Amino acid sequence: MLRDEEIREIQVCLSHYERRRAALPEALMIVQRSRGWVSTEAVHDIAGIINVTAEEVDRIATFYSLIFRRPVGRHVILICDSVSCWIMGYQPLREHLKTRLGIDLGQTTTDGRFTLLPSACLGDCDHAPAMMIDEDLHHDLTADTVDEILERYA
Ligand code: FES
Repeated sequence: MLRDEEIREIQVCLSHYERRRAALPEALMIVQRSRGWVSTEAVHDIAGIINVTAEEVDRIATFYSLIFRRPVGRHVILICDSVSCWIMGYQPLREHLKTRLGIDLGQTTTDGRFTLLPSACLGDCDHAPAMMIDEDLHHDLTADTVDEILERYA
């Protein structure tokens, strides 16, 4: 069940749009910011507030790669696998991250600290390879700089 605060935020968001379903992406982000991910139960709750079907909410949730429909770690690493990053060292970087974290793409470390996900272009191609951790973009990456960057995320 959504918390009062989440419901309030979604209602404020709804007041900004003429068409209620236009608020869907933002409503999903409100819930994700509050819980880290969007459960099936939350999808149904959002549908009830916005007055659309749960299938429609789920369709939007699965369209946006930054909406997580499964629990994730405290920090989400999005490693760019688009063309510039491929050329500039995506593969060795991906293997380094997998080894360093002890997980594969799509998995979460056993301590719940990191989830590692592939991502389409992060818009930082001239500084490839790039990755994003939570809201922070990191670029010109090497194995050494990745190690140093990971240390900053407790
Ligand atoms: S291709 Fe990786 S940031 Fe654009």
